[in-house]
Amino acid sequence: MLEATLSDRVKRLLTASGRSDVPPFMVMDVMAAAARIEASGGHVIHMEVGQPAASAPKTAIAAAHAALESGRIDYTSALGIVSLRERIARHYRDTYGCAVNAERIVVTTGSSGAFILAFLAMFEPGDRVAVTVPGYPPYRHILTALGCEPVPIETSSATRHALTGEALLSAHRTRPLKGVLVGSPANPTGTMMSREALASLITAAEGAGVRFISDEIYHGLDYGFPAVTALGLSPHALVINSFSKYFCMTGWRVGWMVVPEPLVRPIERLQQNLSISVPALSQIAAEAAFDGRAEMEAIKRGYLENRQILIEGLPKAGLDKFLPADGAFYLYADVSAFTSDSFEFAKKMLERAHVAATPGIDFDPLHGHQFVRFSYARSADDMREAVARIARWLA
Ligand SMILES: Cc1ncc(COP(=O)(O)O)c(C=O)c1O
Repeated sequence: MLEATLSDRVKRLLTASGRSDVPPFMVMDVMAAAARIEASGGHVIHMEVGQPAASAPKTAIAAAHAALESGRIDYTSALGIVSLRERIARHYRDTYGCAVNAERIVVTTGSSGAFILAFLAMFEPGDRVAVTVPGYPPYRHILTALGCEPVPIETSSATRHALTGEALLSAHRTRPLKGVLVGSPANPTGTMMSREALASLITAAEGAGVRFISDEIYHGLDYGFPAVTALGLSPHALVINSFSKYFCMTGWRVGWMVVPEPLVRPIERLQQNLSISVPALSQIAAEAAFDGRAEMEAIKRGYLENRQILIEGLPKAGLDKFLPADGAFYLYADVSAFTSDSFEFAKKMLERAHVAATPGIDFDPLHGHQFVRFSYARSADDMREAVARIARWLA
C-alpha cells in the first residue's frame, strides 16, 4: 500500500503535462537516419530540411563581428531594437508600397517565437483556430500546447491548395472559429495564393469576426508572381515573417510580426516576461541583412535553377505528379503510383538512393501518406544528382 502511494507520488513528480504531449516532427527522424548513413561513409543528398544551404548575408555577418568587438551585448527593449523595427517598416514601403508605423513591428525569436506571442495575445484557451491541411505541423502543435484547438481544413488542387472563404465559413458555421492562420508561399506545398484569393479569404474571415494571421516567412522566394502581404489588404491582420528563409539566417533565431495597434502593448508585456528580449547580436545582424539583398537575390536565382531541374527531371525519373512549385523551396510530389505509405517510400529512398526527403504524413495526417516533400535549397549539382539517383532507384 505504502509502496503504491510512493510510486504514485513519484509518478506525479515526474509525469510531463498533457499539453506537452505534442507529436514529434518526423523530418527529425529522417535527419537522424541520414546521419547514420553518413557516419558509415555514405553520401546523402539532403532534401528533407527546410533550410537554405547558404549562409547569412555578408553584411549581417560583418555587423555581428563588429558588435562582438564592441564587447557588450545587452538586453534590448522587448519589442526590439528601434532601428531594426524602422528598417523593417522601410522594407514594407520599398517592397510592397505599404506604409506601416514602426511602432506596430515586434522583433521575435524567429517566426516560431512570433506564433507563441501572437496566439497568447489573440486567443483564450479553448478557442478554435483554423489552419490549412497540408500545412506546417507546428501551427497545430503550438496551438494545442497553449490550450487552443487547431481546426484543420483540407485544401485541394482545385484552389491551388489555398484555403477559400467558403471552406472557412463552413467550418465557422459548424462551430465558431476565433482565428485562421495561412501561409503563402506555403510549406509543404510550395503553392501561393493570388491577391484575389487572399483578399477574399481575409474579407470572409474578418466579416465573420475571425482574426486573420498571415505567415509570410517565404516571402521573397516567389517564382511565378509576387507574393502579396496581408498588411496591404487589412489593417486588422497580424503578419508574421522571419529572417530564416530569404535571408538564410535560420540559426540566428530572429523574425518579426506586424501587429494591429491594440496588440502592441499586450505583446510587449508578454515578451518582457517570456524572454525579456530577442538576442541582441541577432537583431544587429538582421538589420544589416537588408543591405545584403543583392547576395540573397543571387541565392534565389539558384533556387529557381534547382526548381527547374526538379520540374524537368522528376517526371523523367517517374515522379510526374506534383503541385505547382510557385514559391518557397519545396516541391510536394504525389508518390501514390509507387506506394500507399510515403514514410516507407522516403525511408527506402534514403536507404537505397541516399536521397533524404520528408514524408507528407508530417504535414497532413489524412492524405500525407501519398506525398513526399522535396526541399530544393541546396546546390544545382545536388539537384541533378538527386534526380539521377531517384531515376536509377525507381527504375
Ligand atoms: C511555414 C513556416 N513557418 C514558420 C517556420 C519557422 O521558422 P523560424 O522560426 O525559423 O522563423 C517554418 C520553418 O520551417 C516554416 O516552414
